[in-house]
Amino acid sequence: MSLLIRNGRVVTAVDDYHADIFVEDETVSLIGRDLDVEADRTIDAAGRLVIPGGVDPHTHMDMPFGGTTSADDFETGTRAAAFGGTTTIVDFAIQTKGHSTLEGLETWHEKAAGKAGIDYGFHMIVTDMEDDRLWEMRRLADEGVTSYKMFMAYPGVLYVDDGTLFRAMRKAGEDGTLVCMHAENGIVIDEIVKIALAEGKTAPKYHALTRPTRMEAEGVHRSIAIAEVAGVPVYIVHLSCADALEQVTLARDRGAQVFAETCPQYLFLDLSHYDHDDFEGAKYVMTPPLREKWNQEHLWRGLGFGDLQSISTDHCPFCFKDQKVLGIDDFSKIPNGGPGVENRMSLVYNGGVVGGRLSVNKFVELTSTAAAKLFGLFPKKGTIAVGSDADIVVFNPERRETISIDNPHTHHMNVDYNAYEGTEVQGVSEIVISRGRVVVEDNIWHGRAGGGNFLKRGLFGGPF
Ligand code: URP
Ligand code: ZN
Ligand code: ZN
Repeated sequence: MSLLIRNGRVVTAVDDYHADIFVEDETVSLIGRDLDVEADRTIDAAGRLVIPGGVDPHTHMDMPFGGTTSADDFETGTRAAAFGGTTTIVDFAIQTKGHSTLEGLETWHEKAAGKAGIDYGFHMIVTDMEDDRLWEMRRLADEGVTSYKMFMAYPGVLYVDDGTLFRAMRKAGEDGTLVCMHAENGIVIDEIVKIALAEGKTAPKYHALTRPTRMEAEGVHRSIAIAEVAGVPVYIVHLSCADALEQVTLARDRGAQVFAETCPQYLFLDLSHYDHDDFEGAKYVMTPPLREKWNQEHLWRGLGFGDLQSISTDHCPFCFKDQKVLGIDDFSKIPNGGPGVENRMSLVYNGGVVGGRLSVNKFVELTSTAAAKLFGLFPKKGTIAVGSDADIVVFNPERRETISIDNPHTHHMNVDYNAYEGTEVQGVSEIVISRGRVVVEDNIWHGRAGGGNFLKRGLFGGPF
């Protein structure tokens, strides 16, 4: 099977030129002007950007959490991702406390196999790590799971203490892998939550008001310090505010191997989304919470200056009616997380490129290339080059859509609300190609459950 994409404006993290792209089977085999080749199918991309498929390095499909399970499984979640122009996700497998991480990996393979419609990899969430289990970490790396996530938040659930953090970080560093950190002081936050509940403060907005930015900044500072001593690169996930960004910037300025992502929710939504007398604010109960709006310009600056390398979604949807409602009488029982995997590319293009904050190359870097490099997938993923996987998006930079649960062009996620309801965006993924197969065209799904492959990722290759 061959595919020729003609007349497009090819944009990668570093290139911007007009050319034709010839794809044979799953890979890009030729790029040039007016290519003289015959193909099984030709796509005319005149007036369109031709960009690498998005890489979202932070999703939670089919994840048991908060007394329920995230509403998108690997089938619905990866399909929605593809509609939005994302062709690779790196999801989080979880180690059950007291059990092997390898068992956790097996469980996540079972969840994804035969379901994922685009390619996927796994990070491993470590929930405990005694000395006699450290050997498993090398095995995980051999299996292509070359990054971990550990939590300073959620005591009694996913939280690990600093000793565990250090032990696992040290081994991760020895193995050449990367540690992702959920950086928030969960112990102090739990005390603040207790005080709020004792004062009868049960509404969703108290989720945000009990998680001060200083407690995120403290977690960022502490995890970086521990990582430096342990000798491992660290990647701060879902960074939400200026306070936390300052810690990343300070560390990078002194040469520490520190990387960080933010997410569309922290760039486009803010604390005012909790200002509801009813339960509506539960839709935005995620961790870290939405912050005061002024933080957003700091995050954009961090993206522009390179202190933040990537924009992921932390896609972790829970239905408002059936799942968020678990916390109707107590905000601390609202399942934490929100949807976004489908809307990331359009939101970032609109807010970044159309909004004059990012170049079109930077847009590609932040939504695809940087994550591919950080997580051992480059140049197979994250670029358009001869020999790379043909994960390609034909992107219409002029087309506008209003994001809504009722707009069939913007919402395929298996969740009963859209966090960006009513947001108008310019820039839409129109044709999405996953390893040489058109999986989305004319807003119709042409992929299949099980069409996505597990990606064995390489070791950490930075600094970049
Ligand atoms: O609220 C969130 N972010 N839920 C998903 C789990 C996590 O902390 O990433
Ligand atoms: Zn987290
Ligand atoms: Zn997450």
